[in-house]
Amino acid sequence: MNKLSTKLNKDLGEAVAFLSPTGRRMFFPYGGILGQGAEAKSCDTNATIGMAFEEDGSPLVMKCFSENVRLSKKAFLYAGSFGDPLLRAKWREMQVEKNPSMAGVSFSNPVVTNALTHSLRVAAELFASPSDEVVVPDLYWDNYELVFTAAVGCKITSFNTFARGGFDASSMKKALLAPGEKKILILNFPNNPTGYSATIADAKKIVSAVKAAARAGKRIIVLLDDAYFGLVYEKGVHGESLFAEFAKLDKRVLAVKLDGMTKEDYVWGLRVGFISFGFKGATEIQLKALEAKAAGNVRSSISNVTSIGQALALAAFSDKSYKSEKKLKYDTLKARYDETKRVLEKHPEYARSFKPMPFNSGYFMCIKPIGVDAEELRKHLIAKYSIGTIVLSGLLRIAFSTVPKAKLAAIFADINKAVVELKK
Ligand SMILES: Cc1ncc(COP(=O)(O)O)c(C=O)c1O
Repeated sequence: MNKLSTKLNKDLGEAVAFLSPTGRRMFFPYGGILGQGAEAKSCDTNATIGMAFEEDGSPLVMKCFSENVRLSKKAFLYAGSFGDPLLRAKWREMQVEKNPSMAGVSFSNPVVTNALTHSLRVAAELFASPSDEVVVPDLYWDNYELVFTAAVGCKITSFNTFARGGFDASSMKKALLAPGEKKILILNFPNNPTGYSATIADAKKIVSAVKAAARAGKRIIVLLDDAYFGLVYEKGVHGESLFAEFAKLDKRVLAVKLDGMTKEDYVWGLRVGFISFGFKGATEIQLKALEAKAAGNVRSSISNVTSIGQALALAAFSDKSYKSEKKLKYDTLKARYDETKRVLEKHPEYARSFKPMPFNSGYFMCIKPIGVDAEELRKHLIAKYSIGTIVLSGLLRIAFSTVPKAKLAAIFADINKAVVELKK
């Protein structure tokens, strides 16, 4: 039992007897990203949050969303548990356009969810039971624990994320081949917290590792958390979702695509996402059955997803400025990524204070402090430099998505100073 759930159960005293096994496992992650984010709220530089802000500090939002909020009365009707059919068709078409590898692959229509966390939860409830093992790289988004461990009762097994500057696909293969017939593998590129996406070479190794495990008799459900899709900043990175690779790989492999507008379209509070399915040899009837299972799960929990959010998404996707606005927002984040790389290259002396983890995409990058404790450094950065960061697995995560380009050089200089001070 997690120590936070144990504490809540203790607080409940005799009333704990009212709780189900799931209720007993449940906790609120006060100490993780959310707790650390709250501590950094009043910092001059808050690099904790998984959102994005403009150079002037205002929310980075596209006009095709913010100026389309005048919707027709239809946006107040129920959208249905599968989601708005027009939005589902549009999202499917957009996925194939953005991922040419999906053309010709048989996969379901996306079912609408209340954004990606909900897609994960739907997937967890459809495919995972307490005896199943969830396999993730050891640098992963901490909410996977709440969904798979607390809500569903699975065991999470992690493998080493990086080897020789790239993704450690052989560690992943070992974890998949470990005892147990069924494995649920979560892959998240661009990744939270590292900001790493598989390169083309990594992607080949990842796919062949899953293939080898399937051939060895494992049944593998690959959950592709594509939250930060499209935010890739380097050549040689596998820019497409790996969904199509897995959807045509082996009949023992089920590919589940979890995606949505939250991060890639900069609408964190909109709460519209999707879940789609594919596996080798899947028939239309089988895919429809999986859609119905997902929609049934939606109906049993939230009934249906905000119709207003879905109508707004459709309006934005039909807006002629959608693509050009999205490109401008991408450019803002790419400029910060480039600046981060430039600063680190210009200051080789920082290598005595911290080591940047591999990063090439997304909202974040991580550093490993050298000779000082990451949590101590995080606290010191808040107290002395008014800089908010997040600590995860001994690393410091910096969300460049929230920091104006002009401030990035100063942040790394201050981190370097802070490490030097703590070492004294
Ligand atoms: C990797 C990853 N997946 C999913 C999510 C959840 O996104 P949503 O807000 O759409 O539930 C996040 C949010 O931080 C994330 O970092």
